Amino acid sequence: MKGFENKMEEYHFSNINSTQDYAKKLYLEGKNNFLVYADNQTAGRGRNGRLWKSPSGGLWFSFDMDLGDVKGLFTMAIGVATREVLEEIYKCKVQLKWPNDLILDRKKVAGILCEKFNYTVIVGIGINTNVEYVDEEKATTFFNKTKINVNNYEVMKKIIERCNEVINSRMDKVIDIFRENMAYKGEVCFVSALGKDVKVLDVSDNGCLIVEADNETKEVSAGEINVCI
Ligand code: BTN
Repeated sequence: MKGFENKMEEYHFSNINSTQDYAKKLYLEGKNNFLVYADNQTAGRGRNGRLWKSPSGGLWFSFDMDLGDVKGLFTMAIGVATREVLEEIYKCKVQLKWPNDLILDRKKVAGILCEKFNYTVIVGIGINTNVEYVDEEKATTFFNKTKINVNNYEVMKKIIERCNEVINSRMDKVIDIFRENMAYKGEVCFVSALGKDVKVLDVSDNGCLIVEADNETKEVSAGEINVCI
């Protein structure tokens, strides 16, 4: 485990292009055990080069972790940890869309970007917490559902602590927890790696998505579930 989260060097910005880019810069300068968070991002990055909208009130942060020997399941572990904390705080059902999106009422409410540099992973988490409205059909916010305003700093600290706890002590449970909270199981969805609509069945023990396509069961190791119909 890379340090304890209470010893992390913290960098707070009211405005930044991307906490992920700043975290990467810190890593390339030789720093470790850092946490970068911002009130607003002007160029937040999502997976696959997508723009990540970061409206005011949301929680946008990046930090470094050791990859250790977790390898393939690292990103799912971060999703599992983040989901748990959010469900505890908001007391409403939060699901995981493979590989690690967080879903509230069938809409995306948070996203996770894990970028690996040798044995370090820069973990970037974006959550629509105190965001009143998002201008997107497939996204939602916790405030929108619960009318609860949270302390973003406290939520962030709890998530980092939980990520460390899951990675250090509960890796053997990650797949089971993911399965219990998996969104779109049994539904027909577009899966990017296959380029077509398939039935989502499960996740395998090594974290692949299991689908039924052309009357066969297939394992998908890359890409994501895009749209469910
Ligand atoms: C995704 O679902 O595509 C991942 C979204 C990750 C967004 C977070 S917000 C904090 C950090 N800074 C960024 O520029 N991206 C990540």
